[in-house]
Amino acid sequence: MPTELRLHVDQHVRYIQSLDTRKGELEYWLTEHLRLNGLYWGLTALHLLGHGDALPRHEVLDFVFSCMHDNGGFGAAPGHDAHMLYTVSAVQILATLDAFDELEARVSGGRQEIGQYIAALQDLETGTFAGDEWGETDTRFLYGAFNALSLMGLLHMVDVDKAVAHVQRCANFDGGYGTSPGAESHSGQIFTCLGALTIAGRLDGVDQDKLGAWLSERQLKNGGLNGRPEKKEDVCYSWWVMSSLAMLNKLHWIDGTKLATFILQCQDPELGGLADRPGDMVDVFHTVFGIAGLSLLKYPGLEEVDPV
Ligand code: FPP
Ligand code: ZN
Repeated sequence: MPTELRLHVDQHVRYIQSLDTRKGELEYWLTEHLRLNGLYWGLTALHLLGHGDALPRHEVLDFVFSCMHDNGGFGAAPGHDAHMLYTVSAVQILATLDAFDELEARVSGGRQEIGQYIAALQDLETGTFAGDEWGETDTRFLYGAFNALSLMGLLHMVDVDKAVAHVQRCANFDGGYGTSPGAESHSGQIFTCLGALTIAGRLDGVDQDKLGAWLSERQLKNGGLNGRPEKKEDVCYSWWVMSSLAMLNKLHWIDGTKLATFILQCQDPELGGLADRPGDMVDVFHTVFGIAGLSLLKYPGLEEVDPV
């Protein structure tokens, strides 16, 4: 008999709690380069499920601080190099746990030091941001900088206008945005560009109807969303596409009932967690973005997620 199609909250909570107890498994060590991101994804999923206290706060904070470098950046795990994306996850965890006071108490420069690490990654010629000292640039890093700095109240540390102008140069003829000027439109990159523009209060230059239409065309017959034309559906686009539509106030441009059904089909109803598509192996990345998608769809009992 098919399992009833509903969100299996208790199983998902237990799945996330179990993630740090799998040190005997190869997968645990193969994903060490994502540990701090994984902690952020798991913690966010728990908060959306209404179980934000299901992970031990003190241990979570100890781990976050153990990933911090003297230059204000954070690595994925203790001893790993600092990078924008881990630094953003660290700031998001501190914000989620309302722990900026603990940061100030434990780290001499506190928020300011993290802000300096991020600000130094801005390319002052183009306005975009690098991920780390090696210089690769991408609108993901620009969004990450805006996200973390705005959470810390430090957006003034960077040249916002230059960054906005860079995002505007990434706009494509189809209404979408890519990693850099001229790069193909991709829903993940659209989320980062719209997120940055929303934080800056600069959605004015966006062709909102054209972009909304492109985003709504991401829904396939089975209800799931893909990330760009001709690609397969994947539960994480329930976040990248839907959060973008939410920022444009166009969530009703896709069929929410069909999408919710697709997301619920991606669950492991017994062991918890969500996969990219029905029947695949679950992981914490697809778990948080599936649940966040359901939150945008106002699934009953879930906390409200901020699309930015
Ligand atoms: C796969 O691309 C990539 C993803 C599923 C992630 C997309 C999300 C982003 C780029 C935004 C990330 C934001 C931050 C702040 C880190 P693919 O080309 O392999 O997948 P496809 O086959 O679905 O197109
Ligand atoms: Zn995915």
